[in-house]
Amino acid sequence: MKSITFENLPYYGTKRGNGVNIWRLGLFLVWVIAVTWAFSVFIFGTPNSFSKVMSKQKYSLKKNITYNDELELRNNTVSYRNDITQTTAVNPEKESDYENCDLFKGRWIPELNGPLYTNWSCSTIPESKNCQLNGRKDVDYMNWKWKPDDCELQRFDAKKFLSIVRGKKLAFIGDSVARNQMESLLCLLSQGEIPKDIYKDYEDRFRIFYFPAHDFTLTVFWTSFLVDGEDKGIINGSTTNVFHIHLDKIDVNWAQKLPGVDYAVISIAHWYFRKNYLYEGGQLIGCTYCNEPDVPDLGIPFAVGKVFEHVLKYINDCKECNEDLLTLVRTFAPAHFENGYWHGGGVCNRTSPYTEEQVNFASSEWELRSSQVNAFEKYKNTTTEGKRVEILDITRAMMMRPDGHPGPNWKDQYGQNHHDCLHWCLPGPIDIWNDLFTAVLQKIV
Ligand SMILES: *[C@@H]1O[C@H](CO)[C@@H](O)[C@H](O)[C@H]1NC(C)=O
Ligand SMILES: *[C@@H]1O[C@H](CO)[C@@H](O)[C@H](O)[C@H]1NC(C)=O
Ligand SMILES: *[C@@H]1O[C@H](CO)[C@@H](O)[C@H](O)[C@H]1NC(C)=O
Ligand SMILES: *[C@@H]1O[C@H](CO)[C@@H](O)[C@H](O)[C@H]1NC(C)=O
Ligand SMILES: *[C@@H]1O[C@H](CO)[C@@H](O)[C@H](O)[C@H]1NC(C)=O
Ligand SMILES: *[C@@H]1O[C@H](CO)[C@@H](O)[C@H](O)[C@H]1NC(C)=O
Repeated sequence: MKSITFENLPYYGTKRGNGVNIWRLGLFLVWVIAVTWAFSVFIFGTPNSFSKVMSKQKYSLKKNITYNDELELRNNTVSYRNDITQTTAVNPEKESDYENCDLFKGRWIPELNGPLYTNWSCSTIPESKNCQLNGRKDVDYMNWKWKPDDCELQRFDAKKFLSIVRGKKLAFIGDSVARNQMESLLCLLSQGEIPKDIYKDYEDRFRIFYFPAHDFTLTVFWTSFLVDGEDKGIINGSTTNVFHIHLDKIDVNWAQKLPGVDYAVISIAHWYFRKNYLYEGGQLIGCTYCNEPDVPDLGIPFAVGKVFEHVLKYINDCKECNEDLLTLVRTFAPAHFENGYWHGGGVCNRTSPYTEEQVNFASSEWELRSSQVNAFEKYKNTTTEGKRVEILDITRAMMMRPDGHPGPNWKDQYGQNHHDCLHWCLPGPIDIWNDLFTAVLQKIV
């Protein structure tokens, strides 16, 4: 499989000859093109924002030139020129018009302004996701943005987000990947207001941050299954890591905290990838990975789909919950282990995204995502006067990002070194989950 880079991106059809010219003519030409482009787009388009956009354009170019070494600069100028061709094709009137746009279908294109924060400007990046600190040398993985086919996704704007959520309480409910999104949002928002770290339980599974100037509360409620999952099998004093999961019994650890929440982003999946027994109505109905003649293996998509159906029903029926609670179903975030799984020496050392053609949409990951989409659609199709539920369907975008994971440097509890090909670097592609989140909020709030 050939991976794509800024230079051989198929979307732009870079001609080698062109590339050589650019290298030779250098920045001056690019600058001329940029100015011409900016004039032609904005002088006829939006005269009012002309000066604002112009100065922004100048700033971003300048910013990147001083920041980069020569090699990066050249890489960026090539893609920059290509980006111009790309951008002129977009009708400026349609920009940020999310109305008839499928936000989740699109492709990755170079982001020439780089990430919105760094490990210096965001002090809350956990060490495990601080990939630059951990010695990751390549930087391209931070310089892509998601481009929906039919609209422009606006970059995250901390002030705008904070004004939307003023006075509200947001909860990320799920496993460590849910937390990863919260950590991304925390970094993005801390560029607008520094939050107060107001609560942390002894295992650091429940966490509350507060943004006093906006009276905004950001929380994470940890749950591995969303529903009750108990590791009941204790053999000779140690746990078996086989869970008994009740697909229709909501995990009270987060459910009891739901009243008072205005926005809930729910997700789970990775804890289902193991031997588990599945129950419904208190009866054993099957398993995942059990390989026992009397117990049908129902598969992870089945289990996860059922869980989302039950959870959405629970939330809709919740009398103590806010009437206008908005729930977002965040779809499956794929891992990218190659040459083995995490305990089998699997790695993720790619440095650029996949194209859509390189992604296998017949995979079990896609099936898992479909089971979540199904549960969501079922809710929408059968609930007319219920609580608001939307989808944050990040699976397609993230399947294309094998380069976004921390990779080496992850030590397990026994000090064994593994590669983390499941969580996401900060900054990194996970940041666009919050761009999409903002877009969904703008679409409906
Ligand atoms: C620039 O592009 C070349 C070829 O794609 C790549 O090998 C190199 O790592 C890139 N440089 C940087 C610093 O991004
Ligand atoms: C410019 O691009 C580089 C990588 O090409 C990125 O690391 C950097 O953050 C960008 N500059 C700024 C300050 O936005
Ligand atoms: C940020 O990343 C750089 C490498 O790019 C590293 O040298 C530095 O120690 C990191 N700083 C923090 C505060 O994590
Ligand atoms: C539990 O411990 C006993 C005595 O040490 C041993 O005979 C037995 O095989 C162990 N059971 C399992 C399932 O490991
Ligand atoms: C990535 O890891 C694989 C398996 O360990 C190895 O064969 C390959 O050379 C690595 N690629 C790079 C670019 O380091
Ligand atoms: C929901 O309704 C839409 C539109 O009628 C339909 O395409 C879709 O298959 C339905 N989904 C489910 C899960 O019922």
